[in-house]
Amino acid sequence: MKGARLMKVFVAGPLPAEGRAALAQAADCEVEQWDSDDPIPSKDLEQGVMGAHGLLCRFTDRVDKKLLDAAGANLKVISTLSVGVDHLALDEIKKRGIRVGYTPGVLTDATAELAVSLLLTTCRRLPEAIEEVKNGGWSSWNPLWMCGYGLSQSTVGIVGLGRIGQAIARRLKPFGVQRFLYTGRQPKPQEAAEFQAEFVPMAQLAAESDFIVVACSLTPATRGLCGKDFFQKMKNTAIFINISRGDVVNQEDLYQALASGQIAAAGLDVTTPEPLPPSHPLLTLKNCVILPHIGSATYKTRNTMSLLAANNLLAGIRGEPMPSELKL
Ligand code: NDP
Ligand code: DGY
Repeated sequence: MKGARLMKVFVAGPLPAEGRAALAQAADCEVEQWDSDDPIPSKDLEQGVMGAHGLLCRFTDRVDKKLLDAAGANLKVISTLSVGVDHLALDEIKKRGIRVGYTPGVLTDATAELAVSLLLTTCRRLPEAIEEVKNGGWSSWNPLWMCGYGLSQSTVGIVGLGRIGQAIARRLKPFGVQRFLYTGRQPKPQEAAEFQAEFVPMAQLAAESDFIVVACSLTPATRGLCGKDFFQKMKNTAIFINISRGDVVNQEDLYQALASGQIAAAGLDVTTPEPLPPSHPLLTLKNCVILPHIGSATYKTRNTMSLLAANNLLAGIRGEPMPSELKL
């Protein structure tokens, strides 16, 4: 390394230990980091990335033309600590020949596990029930008190039978689900065979499902996909779960559907905005369970994601094959 110029990488926030260690061991780069767990303000990100060869960012960092201009011509790679890439201006990135690393697969199990937890929490009304125990609302055992909906003999509709969608179906199947439906860009007979899942139009999925789980990526085609029309087609006993991105859902329409009893309940791990302000109307509803985007939040998963993101970054700046490169 003697005499060789160090490559600059900018890391837009602290990393779990495994990713941190991988970067610390890289003798060919100089690592600069935003040292707070709060999201980096865009001005600081623009300044930090200036002249950098690599950027390691989070899905909360918007990588747009302005940021790419600020970074300048050195930038070879953007490595995101996420599988979602909707925060990246991919056309602009491709035009500049910049490579993109992301973290598919390593968070699938954790996210599917969380989706199933959220579904059960929502359909069996666990937050309400726990609250009743605490506030004295539990007076006696009553046949219809705190009843919800169960998975046995049900129809589950999955919007986006990708890695996470399939992992969710795999976990739900043993609960006695009778029928799986799915939507996507095209049928995936090979993947669907495991669940005998039927590829159907969105409207049919909405009308026939008892549980709907949204697990697609956020794209121009999926933005606002679940709105008034969709909720109006759903059964009023049906449960809506979203672990994808908040923008796939029209939240005002969801509020109306929940408040009017058009649908039974919703469980959201993702919202718009994030964090959702504590005064948001959705938080006033008993039939809406909201989590703070914790799909991949296990210690092991976040460590593995950070190692993969660090290795993507290092391979990218060195011009080597990346462990997980997004094909642009
Ligand atoms: P995949 O790429 O494996 O799956 C994405 C799915 O989205 C595919 O099945 C794809 O359909 C589907 N899709 C794309 N366009 C449409 C459309 N127009 N209508 C319906 N479905 C569509 O990604 P992953 O399963 O790994 O991740 C999915 C998403 O989950 C991520 O992009 C991210 O936003 C979110 N996520 C959230 C987490 C959380 O913490 N809550 C954690 C991790 C991910 P097709 O099969 O036809 O291509
Ligand atoms: C992702 O990876 O896209 C998540 O939303 C965070 O794990």
